[in-house]
Amino acid sequence: MSKTQLFDLDGKIAFVSGASRGIGEAIAHLLAQQGAHVIVSSRKLDGCQQVADAIIAAGGKATAIACHIGEMEQIGQVFAGIREQFGRLDILVNNAATNPQFCNVLDTDLGAFQKTVDVNIRGYFFMSVEAGKLMRENGGGSIINVASINGVSPGIFQGIYSVTKAAVINMTKVFAKECAPFGIRCNALLPGLTDTKFASALVKNDAILNTALQQIPLKRVADPKEMAGAVLYLASDASSYTTGVALNVDGGFLS
Ligand SMILES: NC(=O)c1ccc[n+]([C@@H]2O[C@H](COP(=O)([O-])OP(=O)(O)OC[C@H]3O[C@@H](n4cnc5c(N)ncnc54)[C@H](OP(=O)(O)O)[C@@H]3O)[C@@H](O)[C@H]2O)c1
Repeated sequence: MSKTQLFDLDGKIAFVSGASRGIGEAIAHLLAQQGAHVIVSSRKLDGCQQVADAIIAAGGKATAIACHIGEMEQIGQVFAGIREQFGRLDILVNNAATNPQFCNVLDTDLGAFQKTVDVNIRGYFFMSVEAGKLMRENGGGSIINVASINGVSPGIFQGIYSVTKAAVINMTKVFAKECAPFGIRCNALLPGLTDTKFASALVKNDAILNTALQQIPLKRVADPKEMAGAVLYLASDASSYTTGVALNVDGGFLS
């Protein structure tokens, strides 16, 4: 009996935003391990190049490209470059997000509000539009939006961030419905508390961490690698009949 080929990504081109560290880095490594050529992206090219070099050193295929997803011109330029260099895109992982202000919702700063919306909603939306156009030309693809459990159950003092993550879950359903005729699937991953720089204020504070752990049935935070398997499932043929789904990977938090 031969092993399943359902999770193979040989010949696929995958773009992962926010891949210089944390959850995005873990996703980039696993997609490359399964055969994809991974475009490793974030605002700073140096960090992306280090991840791309590590993938190549391990025998995989990767290219580093800088892109601030809150800047519309950069999104346009990056996709023009992908079209020229690769001529296709099979997998988009919208993972880079921002959460600049922890505060009571009544103290929300307009600048922080605008930045969060520009990156987490407008960025995810137009990255998906550009990727979707390329995928439509080539017969299909898979878009995976890294949302958050906060999109279902808002995190305390994470008001506008939680609002944007709820929007990402809805956006996932919009793209799933309207892009299905083009062979494009779109699904969301909802990570729970994961040990990254992004969550360090929560994970490194014993009092906050202990309170959080009481609400997590598995009684621990996730390692970034524990998010990557779910993304591989959503990126690959293993999930060929799955679209519009919001997949919780949260140690049971939302159960
Ligand atoms: N960690 C958690 O507990 C947790 C829980 C739920 C959901 N999430 C979600 O998981 C995703 C990844 O978070 P993480 O914890 O892995 O964060 P992280 O370790 O802080 O990594 C964030 C990544 O995004 C990049 N980035 C930040 N702003 C960007 C922008 N405007 N444009 C392009 N790239 C940008 C960063 O690199 P540069 O600085 O070079 O741009 C970095 O590569 C986010 O969508 C987050 O909301 C995380």
